[in-house]
Amino acid sequence: MVNTVEIVEDVIPMEYLDMIKYTAMNSEAWHMKYPQNHPDKHLKMDIIDGDARQPLLAGMAMGLLIMIYKKCNLFRPEITYAGISIKDKNRLDNPHTDHVNDLGHIKIFGLLNSDWGSMDGGLFLHGDEAIPMKPGNFVIFDPRITHSASEITCDKQRLGLDFTVPVNPQGRFAYHSEID
Ligand SMILES: [Fe+2]
Repeated sequence: MVNTVEIVEDVIPMEYLDMIKYTAMNSEAWHMKYPQNHPDKHLKMDIIDGDARQPLLAGMAMGLLIMIYKKCNLFRPEITYAGISIKDKNRLDNPHTDHVNDLGHIKIFGLLNSDWGSMDGGLFLHGDEAIPMKPGNFVIFDPRITHSASEITCDKQRLGLDFTVPVNPQGRFAYHSEID
């Protein structure tokens, strides 16, 4: 295991976040299937799941991913999955792992709330790290390490966009066995 989380700063203008958030909030595609095997669900929308489920948002998500990619080379610029989650102060998030047996993928996460501040809570917890989520920043992380959102301490709904992308085999997130 090498480093397991990377923060990419100032990826996009706040207006781009607002545009994605506005489009998402006007969608009728929200569901409450997640987390699976957990009774306390939150709202989620699948944007890309193999193919584009929400074409307008999928295009915006791809544009965003290219801007993240321009700032780091830890992944390949292809989207296996993209979705938006809504969390709020009424639900404590569940610590979990994803893609446990899928070493070829990593995840990227950032907020769509351009007004999210340090007093609002909802940090990104990953292993032993607690990362404040500043609007415009995105975290790239190993999803096989336990992660969740910390308690939200404001009345706002916290909209988070997450991507699953193929890892760059030459990057430091690539898995190498002990014998390599
Ligand atoms: Fe996750």
